[in-house]
Parts: sequence; C-alpha cells; structure tokens
Amino acid sequence: MSNIGIFFGTDTGKTRKIAKMIHKKLGDAADAPLNINRTSLETFLTYPVLILGTPTLGDGQLPGIESGCESESWLEFAQQLAGADLRGKKVALFGLGDQVSYPDNFVNALGELYDLMQVGGATVVGSWPCEGYEFASSSALQEDDKFVGLVLDHDNQYDLTEARIDSWLGTLREDLL
Ligand SMILES: Cc1cc2nc3c(=O)[nH]c(=O)nc-3n(C[C@H](O)[C@H](O)[C@H](O)COP(=O)(O)O)c2cc1C
Repeated sequence: MSNIGIFFGTDTGKTRKIAKMIHKKLGDAADAPLNINRTSLETFLTYPVLILGTPTLGDGQLPGIESGCESESWLEFAQQLAGADLRGKKVALFGLGDQVSYPDNFVNALGELYDLMQVGGATVVGSWPCEGYEFASSSALQEDDKFVGLVLDHDNQYDLTEARIDSWLGTLREDLL
C-alpha cells in the first residue's frame, strides 16, 4: 500500500480519467484510483494522505442517486463519512465542472467535499487560484478568492487540463510526498 489514496466519484467518466492522469503522474507514491462506490470507509481511512475528486451534478450537488447518477457515489459515501475521525489526514481535492452551462453553481460539489473534510478534522491542502475561469458563483471559492482545490472545466477548457494538473501537483509535492 502506498501513502496516498486516490478516490473519485463520476457520472460520465471524466473524473475517473483525471484521477488516472493524476495517478500516472504520481507513480508509485499513490495507489490506483478507486471509485468511491467501490470502496469501504475502512479502506478510505487507511490512507494518511488522500486525493479526492468529484464532478458537480444535479443542482450543484455531489454525485449520487439523488443528483441523477446511475449509481451511488459521494452523496451516499458522505453518509458513511459522517462522524468519521479524519484528524491527522492530509487531503487534496479536485473538482470538475462546467462554467458555461452552470455559472451559478460552478464546481459547488468541490465545496461540499471540502466541508465534509473540515467537519471530520482533516487538513485540506492544495487551494487553487480562480483566475482563468468565468462564473458568477461557486461555493468552492474561499474568502481569499481561491478555490478549495484544483478546478478543471474539461467541458470548455479541455486544452488547459493537463497543464493545470501539472501545476497543481507541483505545488502539492512537498505536502504530499
Ligand atoms: C445534469 C448535469 C448537471 C450538472 N450540474 C453542474 C453544476 O451544477 N455545476 C457545475 O460546475 N457543473 C455541472 N455539470 C457539469 C459536470 O460537472 C461536468 O460535465 C463534469 O465534467 C462531469 O464529470 P463526470 O464525467 O466525471 O461525471 C453538470 C452536468 C450535468 C450532466
């Protein structure tokens, strides 16, 4: 087992693809990404360092049955996470969204994931500047105008995705490895 666990939720597979790219770039430091609906809380909690990815679906929600996914995902896992002790864990988050079609709820699920981690007492690292995106509102934006994690708009800014991942991982390496 490596130190870093990568977990993702997805509806149409883009977040899985990004999780795999991140894994490839981290090499042996991280285990292969797991869909959050195919793991257990016990496995999740074995990792001291976590990289968690989510798309935003439904009405600015985490993926899951209620937000229109075909299978269970973060929404259902969040129920298991409630009450879990995440103190001492380092967590980096990435979120996929669509700023053109959903400018009022842009990557809101990233904000939801952040809140879940905060409630559990985890240390969240890897905030990300909001320059380069056009949107009206996002609950993933902090008071310092930074996103709580890496934001990828693979629908409209596909060509920027890999450079954004490289830049984010560059800033994270000291924290994660
Ligand atoms: C029904 C639906 C609702 C969506 N709602 C939002 C939203 O509220 N905010 C946002 O930023 N993106 C939203 N998106 C865009 C997705 O987050 C984006 O397409 C993402 O890349 C999908 O990732 P996946 O392939 O891993 O499921 C929505 C997409 C769909 C299909």
